[in-house]
Amino acid sequence: MGKHEQRVISNHCYTPKEVFDALEVKFDLDVAHPEAKTMVPCKKYISRDSLEIKWEGFIWMNPPFGNQKNKFQWSEKFLKHGNGIALFPDRTSAPWYQHFLKHADGILLVAGKIKFLRPDLTPENSPTTGTTLFACGKKGVLILQIAELNGLGRFYLNSSKEQPSALSVMNQSGKEASHG
Ligand SMILES: C[S@@+](CC[C@H](N)C(=O)[O-])C[C@H]1O[C@@H](n2cnc3c(N)ncnc32)[C@H](O)[C@@H]1O
Repeated sequence: MGKHEQRVISNHCYTPKEVFDALEVKFDLDVAHPEAKTMVPCKKYISRDSLEIKWEGFIWMNPPFGNQKNKFQWSEKFLKHGNGIALFPDRTSAPWYQHFLKHADGILLVAGKIKFLRPDLTPENSPTTGTTLFACGKKGVLILQIAELNGLGRFYLNSSKEQPSALSVMNQSGKEASHG
């Protein structure tokens, strides 16, 4: 991990409210959550041993960042769970990033730099790296499409996988998709 990535994305860099405002959804579970308060709109959260615990529902994952092996472990569990949104730094050439590009259902490249929050919820000074949100599952895809409409960045459907259109998802799960 590079020095600036450590500075921008670390165990103590929390996601700011603007991101969640654009996503317009309440998550069932934040799988990597501090004991302290954050801006993550979630019904439940896990603060330790998450990789050993069963995840349920529509999840938010901004994992503690470590080495490549660690990234793969969180990535694999997220992809296997298949229902949620994950936040990772832009590292397009890294093997774990390429793995996500291949297996995620949707990808949102965040416009500009996210100002992550310190544990006291004040913004970090100078973000140096960009951010990607990966979606798994129909709801995640829909939520990232909504986030694009809200100006968070550019959304791309993973064209190498068969996907329903956003409209058909909305028609099928209208209630759930509108913030359920
Ligand atoms: C980058 S922060 C993200 C916090 C929050 N989810 C957000 O998006 O604002 C990662 C969090 O994961 C927590 N964490 C570290 N190891 C964990 C583990 N094994 N299981 C669950 N959470 C863990 C850390 O305490 C830290 O708060």
